[in-house]
Amino acid sequence: MGETAHEIALTVNGVVRRTRVPGRRLLSDCLRHDLGLTGTHVGCEHGVCGCCTVLMDGEPVRSCLTFAVTADGHEITTVEGLADGARMSPVQRAFAECHGLQCGFCTPGFLCTVTALLRENPAPTEEEVLEGVSGNLCRCTGYQNIVKAVHRAAEIMAEERVEEA
Ligand code: FES
Ligand code: FES
Repeated sequence: MGETAHEIALTVNGVVRRTRVPGRRLLSDCLRHDLGLTGTHVGCEHGVCGCCTVLMDGEPVRSCLTFAVTADGHEITTVEGLADGARMSPVQRAFAECHGLQCGFCTPGFLCTVTALLRENPAPTEEEVLEGVSGNLCRCTGYQNIVKAVHRAAEIMAEERVEEA
């Protein structure tokens, strides 16, 4: 007998998405395969690398360790939802400007993690940045450019706050 499917409704990047999933369907698979949002990457599938990080109600979660059914009724933000229309978010712009990505496999996870980090702490110290990204693994950049990008994103966000005031 097949596994029972559950009807779930998630708000993904501001849009309510309904789908039917087996109880053990991972959120990462649901986003990528059921909802076609392949920007979320999957690396280790064991909660180690952080590639699959998305935001659930604004908090970073490892989508490879989260069952899709537990996201029912919650707000999910994936890398596809970070930009403001055609304009990249400050974090995305800073990563591009500071060369904080190379192969880019880990990048969606970093972008989501850093977005949440800067929302919580708009002016992190060097140590806080290192601590903040310690759950995301990148094998390419050696972290210098990623750390630079986080500080640059904080700067851009501060400039934009001044402009808006
Ligand atoms: S794929 Fe989820 S932490 Fe590595
Ligand atoms: S840019 Fe290659 S793993 Fe991060």
